[in-house]
Formats: sequence, C-alpha cells, structure tokens
Amino acid sequence: MRKRIVAGNWKMNMLPNEAIHFIEELTPLVKDTKNEVILCVPYTDLFYAILTAQNTNIKIGAQNMHFEDKGAYTGEVSGEMLKSINVEYVIIGHSERRQYFNETDETVNKKIKSAFKYGLKPIVCVGETLEQREEGIAEEVITKQTELALAGLSDEQVKNTIIAYEPIWAIGTGKTATKEDANNSIRAIRNKIAKIYGQIIADSVIIQYGGSVKSSNAKELFEMSDIDGALVGGASLKADEFSKIVNA
Ligand code: PGA
Repeated sequence: MRKRIVAGNWKMNMLPNEAIHFIEELTPLVKDTKNEVILCVPYTDLFYAILTAQNTNIKIGAQNMHFEDKGAYTGEVSGEMLKSINVEYVIIGHSERRQYFNETDETVNKKIKSAFKYGLKPIVCVGETLEQREEGIAEEVITKQTELALAGLSDEQVKNTIIAYEPIWAIGTGKTATKEDANNSIRAIRNKIAKIYGQIIADSVIIQYGGSVKSSNAKELFEMSDIDGALVGGASLKADEFSKIVNA
C-alpha cells in the first residue's frame, strides 16, 4: 500500500511570522492523520518553519533549488544549503518555474539528481497545457516529462521520487480535473514508469494530483485508485482549510 502525501505549496506567500502562526494553528488539526503532511514554504520561511514544526508530524520542503553544488550563481540556493538546515523535501519543475523561469526537462533532471545527492526528497511536477490537452497530446506530454525527469536515476531513487501531476489549466483557476481524468493521467504516468523501471517500482511511486484541490473535492480525488494525495496551492494558505484536505 502506498501512503498518501498532502503537500502545501505556498508559492510566494507568507512572511516568517505568518508561517510560525500557521504551523502552530495547523499542528493540533493534523496530529492524528495517517497521511504525510508537508509544507513547501518560501526560502525566507524555511528556518522558522523547521523550528516551529519540530516535534510535530509536519515536514518542511522548499519550492526550488539549483542543481550545482556551489559557485557563481547569484541568487540561487543549492541542495546542500537546504539540507544544512534540515529541509526534507523540495518541489522541482513546478509549471510556474517552467513557464516563468525557463526551467526545462534537462534542468529538472539535474535538480532531481542533486536533490538525491544531498538526501532531499524531490516532488517533481509534470502537467500539460490546455492547448496540449485540446490537441489530444496530454498523455504523451506528461509521460515524456516523467521519462526525462527520471532519466539516469537508480531504481531506489525512482522509488523515492514523488510525482505531482498538475494539469496547468487547473492550477489556480478553480477548474479541477475530473477525478476520472486525473486518475487516468496518473495511471498513464505509472504505466510509463512500469515500462522503464518495472511494475514493482511503478506501484511504489507516490503520484499526487494538483490543481485547484480544496476541502470540497479532496475526498473524491483521494478515493481514486492511483491518486496518492495532493499538491495544494491556494487552499494551503489557510490552516483550517488545509487541515480538512489532509484529513479528507
Ligand atoms: P492551486 O495550485 O491548488 O492553487 O491550483 C497548485 C499548485 O500550483 O501546486
């Protein structure tokens, strides 16, 4: 049985004092869940969030990292830097980074390798645009993104990669994929992994759905056979709402 992971992606929101307050508020609301709870917070919140989440079941992640270890990359943060303050997870290849910051399948792959080098668990985002969906090539796009993201990883690393299937047209739009559509897309990703790495590994990879997940639709999504939780943007900014998704 795969566990379910619910991860919040705060994007460029929340100051350190707000992060501390949020985690204090969330802690009692999610303490009894069997699901894994992760908050991916801005760099400036990481240290405060990690201290506040100590002795709770809330794990802390970053939203991006650079693939090089160190050097002349003004403004960038390395995997080693994240690890040094006990960050456990890192989102890699979010569609907003692919769209606004020229993230490519190649840099995504390099970042995943560097994340593993430093013992960070990557949450790797894949997803099609509305145009690609309307053209009927959504499945081809997301399975290719998955293949290129995982290229060159060991079986063990593939097993420990969390994938977030996030159709771009569903992010921040209020439009969620139907549970059947989301499940079919995720199954296509899992089948692709099975083809390359074998069924046993494919069956153990956690694949989340993301895109306008909220407390009112989380339960029906989580009931689907292949959906192993969610990556939550907007609805992760209110502790009460986010806790309802975690407990759905
Ligand atoms: P959303 O964002 O839940 O606000 O649609 C999801 C994401 O971008 O990870």
